[in-house]
Amino acid sequence: MPAPQGIGKVYMIGLMGAGKSTVGRLLADALKWQLFDIDQEIEKIAGSDIPGIFEEQGEDGFRDYETQVLMETAAMNNTIVPCGGGIVTRPENIGYLKDHLTVWLDVSPEEAAARLEHSDHRPLLNECKDTIKKLREILDNRQVGYADAASVHINTGQRAPDAIAREILEKLETYHA
Ligand code: S3P
Repeated sequence: MPAPQGIGKVYMIGLMGAGKSTVGRLLADALKWQLFDIDQEIEKIAGSDIPGIFEEQGEDGFRDYETQVLMETAAMNNTIVPCGGGIVTRPENIGYLKDHLTVWLDVSPEEAAARLEHSDHRPLLNECKDTIKKLREILDNRQVGYADAASVHINTGQRAPDAIAREILEKLETYHA
């Protein structure tokens, strides 16, 4: 599929388990763009995985990397950028995303929890007895930020990643920055 004219990159935001990386990969393949996953890049720079960064440098240390890597994407083109779910916890990140094409994959805490059932890679859900409740709290804190940062809002409600990717591609066709 030809890339929509005038759009250089697309940011993907939303709760953990929303499918940002999976849908991002489908979009990158469809458009023949590169995928630049912020979490993966942070792990490369830090030389540690995300749980290790949280353990050694705390959440603040992780958030510093997150903002640094987000700002580095400014110079990129033809790129899909899945962001970690907490990207909207810093106002400067929201300010940046507002100026770019940002897609919010809006997933319910119930659906996200089901997808994350076997994940031990999310420090914010560590030792959490009730994942749905925890994700609900996180979403409550971030919902306004997601809505503020996003230019495109997609309700993922029990849909397959390729159907979601198709909806985004259709929306991008009509999107003018
Ligand atoms: C986080 C989400 C994770 C990762 C880190 C913190 C969050 O990314 O950045 O564990 O604060 O919601 P995903 O949304 O890709 O799981």
